[in-house]
Amino acid sequence: MEQIIVRPSSGLRGEVPISGAKNSVLKLMAATLLAPGESVLHNVPAISDVGIMAELLRAMGADVTLTPGTARIVVPEVCGLEAPYELVERMRASIVVLGPLLGRFGRARVSLPGGDDLGPRPIDMHLSGLQRLGARFESEHGYIEARAEVLRGTEVLLEYPSVGATENLLMAAVLAKGRTVIENAAREPEIYDLCEMLAKMGASIVGAGTSTIEVEGVERLSPVTHSVVPDRIEAATYLAAVGVAGGELTLRGARAGHMEMLIEKLRAMGMTISDTGNGLWAMAPRTLHSVDVVTLPYPGVATDYKPFLVAMLSVADGVGIVTENIFQGGRFGYIDELRRMRADIRTQGHHAVVRGTTTLSGARVKARDIRAGAALVVAGLRAEGETAVTGVEHIDRGYDALVPKLAAVGADVTRVEG
Ligand code: UD1
Repeated sequence: MEQIIVRPSSGLRGEVPISGAKNSVLKLMAATLLAPGESVLHNVPAISDVGIMAELLRAMGADVTLTPGTARIVVPEVCGLEAPYELVERMRASIVVLGPLLGRFGRARVSLPGGDDLGPRPIDMHLSGLQRLGARFESEHGYIEARAEVLRGTEVLLEYPSVGATENLLMAAVLAKGRTVIENAAREPEIYDLCEMLAKMGASIVGAGTSTIEVEGVERLSPVTHSVVPDRIEAATYLAAVGVAGGELTLRGARAGHMEMLIEKLRAMGMTISDTGNGLWAMAPRTLHSVDVVTLPYPGVATDYKPFLVAMLSVADGVGIVTENIFQGGRFGYIDELRRMRADIRTQGHHAVVRGTTTLSGARVKARDIRAGAALVVAGLRAEGETAVTGVEHIDRGYDALVPKLAAVGADVTRVEG
């Protein structure tokens, strides 16, 4: 069993290259299903979720070649229409093939995703939105059977700006007849990236990045070459690392405009952060100040940043209250692990009260999801003795070279067997 061993590290210094965004590349890979022929994605992160999406596309008959930084995907004229349990169970984001399959073939059979460590994650909004476009669903033996004789554009008002529902709707609407208007759409940079790629494929989309997206359906789309947007959540991880360990870092490729609210929070904690044009430069104060944090849909502070902010607050001066508004339940699971490192955190409902302490205490802790795992590594930079993070496979799902990137800027981090 692999582990990441972290020892106290101070004064990180140097440059970290930021990879393409996990939460974008998976959807862009699914979007290639919309057009037969060879699409090429650049700035593809080396993460295991990309491997799972590649397997899923192969299961549908696509020929996928992954080389460092690039995914070449050749989509056939006729695709397999099933997303099997074995793959959806390993990666919930697989549900995002539903929209493109319905859009192009009018049929799909997708395993229903179960719950996960982040709590219940229903897909009712995906289904009711697609139903508005004319799809019908039946659920049998754990699979959703989807059919649509014809998809017709219409107005879809999302009850909540769900990222996944917006993506599935977009990818169905681009090949539907007539105009679809998605109201209360998600505005995340990854949605914008998807819209950009779809537009390059020949889709007609107005309002990407706003809460009203209008799509005029077209007859067919063409394959595309596209570069994945930089990962703002990965960038946030390194901002937290320098915040916790001290020092100064340049994050090459990070986009300040995608992380404005987070940057404001980190400045309020005492960090100096500037936009270098081609990235971010960040310097940490001797001691971070506590702040309160509320997670919200974009452009608010992302729920995915929260574990890093909690790790930072654990070693800040004062008390910070963190309120989770996006996911019910489970998104505080990693806090028990941080407590094992002597962090002073109390949770009540969807709030966490974090009382800062000067140093944490290294312990054996378990990563239960991608971001929580990375946050434990970050916390270990300020923990006496040794922190051993297990559950490394969760971190690998979403991080391209976390350990080498941290080690290259002076962190005492290694990956070991056993
Ligand atoms: C995506 C991101 C995830 C991020 C989240 C919120 C990917 C692969 N994952 O997840 O990292 O934390 O956005 O920014 O891109 N909901 C429903 N019904 C639905 C859909 C969602 O109730 O049909 C609820 C969810 O349970 C959750 C909230 O809405 O409480 C947000 O979900 P959503 O925005 O859809 O997140 P994901 O696309 O699953």
